[in-house]
Amino acid sequence: MTDIRYILNKLCDESDLTREEIITLLENRDPEIQTELAKNASAVARKHYGNKIFVRGLIEFTNYCRNDCYYCGIRCGNKNAERYRLSKDEIVECASYGYDLGFRTIVLQGGEDMFYTDDMMVDIIKSVKKEHTDCAVTLSIGEKSYESYKAFFDAGADRYLLRHETADPGHYAKLHPSNLSSENRKQCLYNLKKIGFQTGAGFMVGSPYQTLENIADDLLFLKKLDPEMIGIGPFIPHKDTVFADEKAGGLDLTLYLLSIIRLMLPTVLLPATTALGTIDPRGRELGILAGTNVVMPNLSPVGVRKKYALYDNKICTGEEAAECMNCLKNRISNIGYEIVADRGDNIKYKNMKEGK
Ligand code: 5AD
Ligand code: FES
Repeated sequence: MTDIRYILNKLCDESDLTREEIITLLENRDPEIQTELAKNASAVARKHYGNKIFVRGLIEFTNYCRNDCYYCGIRCGNKNAERYRLSKDEIVECASYGYDLGFRTIVLQGGEDMFYTDDMMVDIIKSVKKEHTDCAVTLSIGEKSYESYKAFFDAGADRYLLRHETADPGHYAKLHPSNLSSENRKQCLYNLKKIGFQTGAGFMVGSPYQTLENIADDLLFLKKLDPEMIGIGPFIPHKDTVFADEKAGGLDLTLYLLSIIRLMLPTVLLPATTALGTIDPRGRELGILAGTNVVMPNLSPVGVRKKYALYDNKICTGEEAAECMNCLKNRISNIGYEIVADRGDNIKYKNMKEGK
């Protein structure tokens, strides 16, 4: 117990732990420590971002994907997935609808769909940015070359989400086919940072074969990469995947890790993910109380929502974006926080750019 106290204090004071200390913290998870971590983590989030919660409008513009990740419902091997693509006009229209609802960040997410060439993506990014100059554009479209990333950045994209999925190459190989590698994934993340994107990494909690040592290595990788954003959420099985019969990641472990991440990287933008809201009706609220400061409601046209199913039973697939916005506003104000119409840049990144 003295060990745990020492580790907790060190985490709060120094935002850093050794691998052994992280493993000890993970092995000794209990409700009392969980509460204490959440209290400290939410205080750190409030110190940097107040009671403000940033919203990102997520446009899932294609569910075609060339990859066959074992956990993912839109893997190319899933012949039951009904595929769709949004046109440039549909994407831009969706972004404008989001803008009117108060979104100042638009996230363009999709599978690795080669239909959208770099030129097309550049055109889409420029169109959204031109129409809404005060809006940030975030991309989440997988692994690309340095040159492609650079072209997107030069076109005006501000941020890029690419979860590293697991920092351990052996574990990575159990979740992905052999044409994909942890090394390349990490290289992409370093490239994105070098180019100047606000970069997001992250992993699934409770993915098949994941050990506490893997999680410790994920946290150490994140600390080293120092991304502006981190996305973690529970693994949830999808019926048409290799992992259909695996069990979902746990709520408490996810919340515990969210708090640890907030304490390790105090200014990071950290969403309470849809997956967290899917495994528990109050998941997103609990996430905020554990130190998260972002929510990412769905802006995709309702007609395609159900088709972007990475996992089973995803929430909010029947609601209009306006309904989700109202629902989230209520949920968030009920716990003493407030959604803001703001780009919501990472504060450390912003200060660095402004030379502060
Ligand atoms: N359960 C939870 N998260 C998933 N993702 C993909 N499939 C699943 C699943 N079955 C996550 C991955 C990916 C992100 C877009 O969604 O971490 O990077
Ligand atoms: Fe979508 Fe509540 S956030 S219905």
